[in-house]
Amino acid sequence: MNKFTISMLFVGAIALCGVAMSPLTATADDDEGGGKCFRTKFETKLGADSCAKGGQGEAKKAFKAWTAEAKKTDATLSCKSCHTKMGPEFPLTADGLEKYKKLGGK
Ligand code: HEC
Repeated sequence: MNKFTISMLFVGAIALCGVAMSPLTATADDDEGGGKCFRTKFETKLGADSCAKGGQGEAKKAFKAWTAEAKKTDATLSCKSCHTKMGPEFPLTADGLEKYKKLGGK
């Protein structure tokens, strides 16, 4: 192995760490892509529009803004009120969608 291969391995390892860590940091204020949304069928206009516009990064931003607004109605609200996991699939809690609609989500 020459120096170049070693440094490429190093870069690769860092990149892998980034991928492995991303579910943990999904709630942080990041808007770094994440690529396409996991969902391909949407129950909400916010999900459909933001995913179409900019994938999961955009959906995160959209839901962050929406959640901040909805907190005026329900101060205890957080991403975890509706999502059992913050990435990569953002699975919903049993009543996640219902909650969203009740809070006036479109
Ligand atoms: C009141 C419930 C509710 C809250 C709070 C909420 N979400 Fe969601 N979220 C949903 C629903 C419902 C969907 C599915 C949308 C659809 O089917 O159109 C969704 C979808 C998403 C998606 C799309 C995932 C994909 O790839 O398919 C992302 C990303 C997301 N939410 C991030 C967040 C983040 C980040 C927060 C916190 C800032 C948050 N959500 C807070 C209800 C909620």
